[in-house]
Amino acid sequence: MSLLTEPRRVHIETYGCQMNLADSELVGGILHREGYVLAKDIREADVVLLNTCAIRDNAEQRIYGRLGYLSTFKRQKPDLVVGILGCMAERLRARFIEKEELVDIVVGPDEYRKLPSLISMALEGGKGIAVQLSRIENYDDIVPLRMEGVSAWVSVMRGCDKFCTFCVVPFTRGRERSRMLLNVVRDVASLMGRGFKEVTLLGQNVNSYRDGDRDFADLLRSVAAVERSLRVRFMTSHPQDMSDRLIEAIASTSNLCKYIHLPIQSGSDRILNLMNRTYSVEHYIHLAEKIRQAMPGVGLSTDIISGFPTETEEDHRMTVSLLKEIQFDGAYTFKYSPREHTKAWEMHDDVSEDIKGQRVNEITRLQHEISLVRNRALIETVETVLVEGVSRKSLEAFTGRTDTNKTVVFPKTDVQTGEYVDVLIDRVNSATLFGELVVGKRSTALTDILNTQEAAA
Ligand code: SAH
Ligand code: SF4
Ligand code: F3S
Repeated sequence: MSLLTEPRRVHIETYGCQMNLADSELVGGILHREGYVLAKDIREADVVLLNTCAIRDNAEQRIYGRLGYLSTFKRQKPDLVVGILGCMAERLRARFIEKEELVDIVVGPDEYRKLPSLISMALEGGKGIAVQLSRIENYDDIVPLRMEGVSAWVSVMRGCDKFCTFCVVPFTRGRERSRMLLNVVRDVASLMGRGFKEVTLLGQNVNSYRDGDRDFADLLRSVAAVERSLRVRFMTSHPQDMSDRLIEAIASTSNLCKYIHLPIQSGSDRILNLMNRTYSVEHYIHLAEKIRQAMPGVGLSTDIISGFPTETEEDHRMTVSLLKEIQFDGAYTFKYSPREHTKAWEMHDDVSEDIKGQRVNEITRLQHEISLVRNRALIETVETVLVEGVSRKSLEAFTGRTDTNKTVVFPKTDVQTGEYVDVLIDRVNSATLFGELVVGKRSTALTDILNTQEAAA
């Protein structure tokens, strides 16, 4: 790019899961080295990229809504380049360009290296599409463009080979492939150097991570060893591959956070089987017990799909009793949404929207009660919190999270974002813990960490 021309400004909007958030940073990195700059405000942008999600129909409807807005916007700014990235790009491909006149480029998750040339072409008035999936692309050499902060996403693998029958991800993200362990460790060390205090290792099914003979437990241990004051989180785990080695690694390493998101999807074996989830309810319950035995106080959350084809009231009741039995800290519940190309697409979507809605509501209400009871048990305990910043709800309060991934809000005092503090919990609701800073006492977690370092030295 000539020094005389103004740098092109790109505005990126991200929808969907954390992997899309991480990918948007990757796209930022790819464009940054070609001289593009990021525009926070869409009105300053020459290029608008929507990094999209296709997991459920309502996720896609949101994007169409946004495109409606963008088409009015483009009328005032006809040179604006509009690009669709991510899972919807992969799913709909050329259909996007054919149907939506507004869209100039369509780029799937494994083709982001082509973005600079596709954008240049579109700026000249052309249209372009790149949606090949790859068995090897893992962007291992790309440095993502991250804003400064406390917490960073680090993608450790791409794709998914599980083919749960409801899920579009294997079709939009392609085959499973892992990054090299050394590269992940290198990235984490560099984030640490930039002042980040927490990293979340990402993959659709991190338990299948592999680099030669090293597995996810090895990766976690290596990342945790970069620096003991760095908190390490991960998501998502699949109940089938959650090994004893992995549980042992988390339990025995102080800075591997004691929080596991472990989607169960249904409490009925018949439905789990139809979903191709490859585990039984009994296996899951046993696993949850093992995890809690190894790590008392661990935070455990899950995902549920309501209204999968043929789900009866009895199947639903089994899910309800499973939730009562396990007592999760949190659960995300979704209405089943048929996705083209998946196996379940062939099954008749026979549970009505109404029933799906009723089941989701019942589960959500029940889970709120359970979360509240679990949070109440933390009243009068002292929790170590990594301060993330000013609370969204009140400028007079700080917010942060516990190791077990619970949000804590406490009055603003003389502490800094990125610091560890101890908070005495005095009030809770189903989503948040509230308390007062314990003053004059160094965070016990930090003392532990320093002791570990001293012992290691
Ligand atoms: N890889 C993760 C989840 C990815 S998608 C895992 O295996 O657990 C996040 C959640 O979306 C899933 O856990 C599931 O509960 C939900 N989901 C996926 N496909 C769906 C569909 N077709 N309809 C409704 N919910 C769906
Ligand atoms: Fe989808 Fe199943 Fe893969 Fe998760 S494990 S991304 S639900 S196919
Ligand atoms: Fe959505 Fe794709 Fe993530 S479908 S949930 S953005 S992997």
